Amino acid sequence: MSERKELRDIKYAQSESSRMVELISRPDDQVTMAEREQIAKETTENFGNHINKGFLEYRKSVTEAGDFALTEWTGQGSMMTDALGREFIDVLGGFGIYSAGIRHPKIVKSVKAQLDRSPQYSQEMLDPLRAHLAKVLGYLTPGDLQYMFFINSGTEAVEGAMKLAKFYTGKSGFIATTAGFHGKTLGALSLMGKACYREPLMPLLGNTRHVPFGDADALEQQLAICEQVGDQIAAFIAEPIQGEAGAVVPPDDYWPRVREICDRYGVLLIADEVQTGLGRTGEIFGVDNWNVTPDIMCLGKALGGGVVPMSAFIASPKIWKVMEPNPFMHTSTTGGNPLACSAALAYIDVMLSEDLPGQAKRKGKYIMSKLDELQQKYPAILSGYRGKGLLIGMEFATDEIGYNVASGLFKRQVLTAGTLTNAKAIRIEPALNIPDALVDEVLNRLEDTFKSIK
Ligand SMILES: Cc1ncc(COP(=O)(O)O)c(C=O)c1O
Repeated sequence: MSERKELRDIKYAQSESSRMVELISRPDDQVTMAEREQIAKETTENFGNHINKGFLEYRKSVTEAGDFALTEWTGQGSMMTDALGREFIDVLGGFGIYSAGIRHPKIVKSVKAQLDRSPQYSQEMLDPLRAHLAKVLGYLTPGDLQYMFFINSGTEAVEGAMKLAKFYTGKSGFIATTAGFHGKTLGALSLMGKACYREPLMPLLGNTRHVPFGDADALEQQLAICEQVGDQIAAFIAEPIQGEAGAVVPPDDYWPRVREICDRYGVLLIADEVQTGLGRTGEIFGVDNWNVTPDIMCLGKALGGGVVPMSAFIASPKIWKVMEPNPFMHTSTTGGNPLACSAALAYIDVMLSEDLPGQAKRKGKYIMSKLDELQQKYPAILSGYRGKGLLIGMEFATDEIGYNVASGLFKRQVLTAGTLTNAKAIRIEPALNIPDALVDEVLNRLEDTFKSIK
């Protein structure tokens, strides 16, 4: 049915659009099993023909799922259900999107209410939700971080932070960290700490350097060299805890020292809190673990409450002043739209009323105490673990062992990251409000998986 008949077929495009809209508009109990199987088949085909064939070899949801690929359909809290009704416990958390879980009722309700009022903005009238959200975030952030710009993705937040740092300092250079991850648009990619994504696209932004994460001496040395040779550095950027690298926690004196070093060299400090922000690490912000106020902070992922994409970069009035003479220096037609703001406001309400940071702290400690026991029992499988709050990384001796764990969990209906080529460190990043009983269930299935690995 979804086979392409001709290169261009406008009638077919229209009938296919309306077919899917009709299907999703129907109550779920009126979608037949035959239709569900059809969706699963077509989704695999459509990925191959129109998204990227590469994914089909790479995702466990295709390679490990049997006759029908696991086809995302619905979810609630920490449970995900595919089109055929197969249920998974979600400990991947959309890599940090689902801090409040999937479809948190308060967040969905807020977005639905705003959808019925005004989903996007006029671009001319003053939009109240964006202004209100900025005020609320201004009261949440450390120090005098008070002015902000909203966009839709983490990488856009980093791009904005980079632009602001260059604009404010009049300098062009950046220092980032090895293994760091800040997004994949060209500016953010220049800061990426992994060769495979940067190398094929060289040259990227000039005057960017990398220092080992967690090593304040290395940063100081690099800044001293830059000063000595006349390379002008606008900012140093790092994640408070490296997420994509596998929940790498720096030494406790790292962030306070980085703050002091940046001040001494007159370099701005950008904290990329896209993954660590808003409760994930057991505090509202990752930098709160060390009581540090950065000059610019980037937020993303959880900010949209797992319902609408949303991100931000935030700075102090002193820095933001440079944007005032021409407020059009940075713009986005859809950034901070009313739906995204209604989601973010509801997320903040949920985060504070349910004490999501506190829940993350408690459950993170519990999971890590259990991982400690598992490491002692299965040292040849689990070689280490680390993390803060519910940003936890399990470390395996090889990609192969890691992949066996990821696929073993998948077979036991627990959703984690981990691919054939990238499974040495697997993150546990569930919703911060994941019920305790589900945490225990995941740990049981993890041990069961370990037992099954030779
Ligand atoms: C710390 C950090 N910064 C930036 C990004 C990029 O965010 P996005 O994928 O929304 O562009 C990510 C995504 O994983 C991230 O973890």
